[in-house]
Order: sequence, then C-alpha cells, then structure tokens
Amino acid sequence: MRTPIIAGNWKMNNTIKEGLALVEDIKSKKLDSNVEKVVCVPFTLLKDVKEVLKGSDIKLGAQNMHWEESGAFTGEVSPLMLNDIGVDYVIIGHSERRQYFLETDQTVNKKVKSAIKHDIKPILCVGETLEEREEGKEKDVIKGQIENGLKDIENIDDIVVAYEPIWAIGTGKTASSDEANDMIHFIRKTIGDLYGKSSDKIRIQYGGSVKPSNISELMGKSDIDGALVGGASLKAEDFKDLINFKIGG
Ligand code: PGA
Repeated sequence: MRTPIIAGNWKMNNTIKEGLALVEDIKSKKLDSNVEKVVCVPFTLLKDVKEVLKGSDIKLGAQNMHWEESGAFTGEVSPLMLNDIGVDYVIIGHSERRQYFLETDQTVNKKVKSAIKHDIKPILCVGETLEEREEGKEKDVIKGQIENGLKDIENIDDIVVAYEPIWAIGTGKTASSDEANDMIHFIRKTIGDLYGKSSDKIRIQYGGSVKPSNISELMGKSDIDGALVGGASLKAEDFKDLINFKIGG
C-alpha cells in the first residue's frame, strides 16, 4: 500500500507574515492522519515554518536546491543548508525551473542524487508541453525525462515523482483523470524497466489545476498516489479539503 501524499507548492508567494499565517491556519485544521502532507515554501520561510510545524505531522519541503554542498554558486542554496533547517522534501525539476531557469534532465539528475545523498526526499517533476501532446509525443518526452532524471540512482524508494502536464499548470485545465492515470501508469512501467519491482513502491503524484472539486476523482484512480498543488495550496480551507479527500472536508 502506498501512502497518499498531498504536497502544496507555494511557488514565489507569501511574505514571512503571510506565510506564517497560512501555515498556522493549515495546522489548526483537522487533517486526515493517513495522508502524508507537505508544504513546499519559499527559502525565506523555511526556518520559521519549520518552527510552526513542530508537533504536527505536516512535513516541510523546499522548491529547489543546488547539487553541491557549498562553493561559488551565487544565489543558490545547498543541501547542507536545507539539512540545517530540517527540510524533509525538495521539489526538483519543476517545469517552471526547466522553462525559465533552463534546468535540464542532466542537472535535474544531479539534484535528485544529491538530495538522496543528503536524506532529503526529492519530488521529481516531469511533464510535456501542449505542443508535444498535440504531436502525440507525450510518452516519448516523459520517458526521456524519467530515464535521464533517474539515471544511476542507487535507491529509488524515497523518490516521489510528480506528473505535471505543462498545459494543465495554473491554467484551470486539468488532464482528465483517465489521461493522468494512463501517463502515471506509463511512468511506473518506465521506472519498472529501469529499477524492477521498486517501482511498485514509488509514489507518483498528479499536478496541474488540482482543486477540491477534482481531487477525489483523481485519487480514485489505480496509479495516482497524490497531488502536487499550486494555486489551491495557498488557501488553508482548500488545502484541507484536498488532504481530506477520503473523509470529506
Ligand atoms: P497549479 O500548479 O495547481 O496551480 O496548477 C501545480 C504546480 O505547478 O505544481
């Protein structure tokens, strides 16, 4: 049995004051203890949010990191710095980082390896563009991102993969639950070809306009183990409803 995992990706939103108010609000709600919950907050909020989360079962995530431990990499944050704060998860290779900051499968692979080495669980994001889907290339694209992103990794058990079709992110357009499940099943098979039976254990989320009104249908599918949520994770009430998809809001 794979434990469902709902992760909020706050992206570049919230000042310290706003972020702390949001996380206090989330923490005060009754949340399903059988669902793993993660908030991935901006770097400036990590330390303070960690304090607020003490005594709760909500995990802390960062949205990016460099693969090196230290050095001349102006503007970057290292895995040791995330360890210092006690970060549990880190999002790697989000499509916005690939698109605007030119991250490649090769740098993504270095980051995934470094996160595992430093005991930070990576949430590896993959996804195709609308153009790629319209040309019928979506499976080739995802296969390439998975094979290159997960190359030469010793233990994949703690990796979470998030399938986020780029055309569904922040657009209000969700992939249908069947489309999402079909691709996630394909991702599991691709990982199985690389790493054998461990692929049964790996959790694969769907991401892209997930909201309280579509979470139950998505989570009802055979291969979808959770969601990576942008917009709807910025409202405590919506985030609660997403986490409580099984027991109702
Ligand atoms: P969205 O973002 O839920 O706002 O579509 C998802 C993501 O980018 O992780």
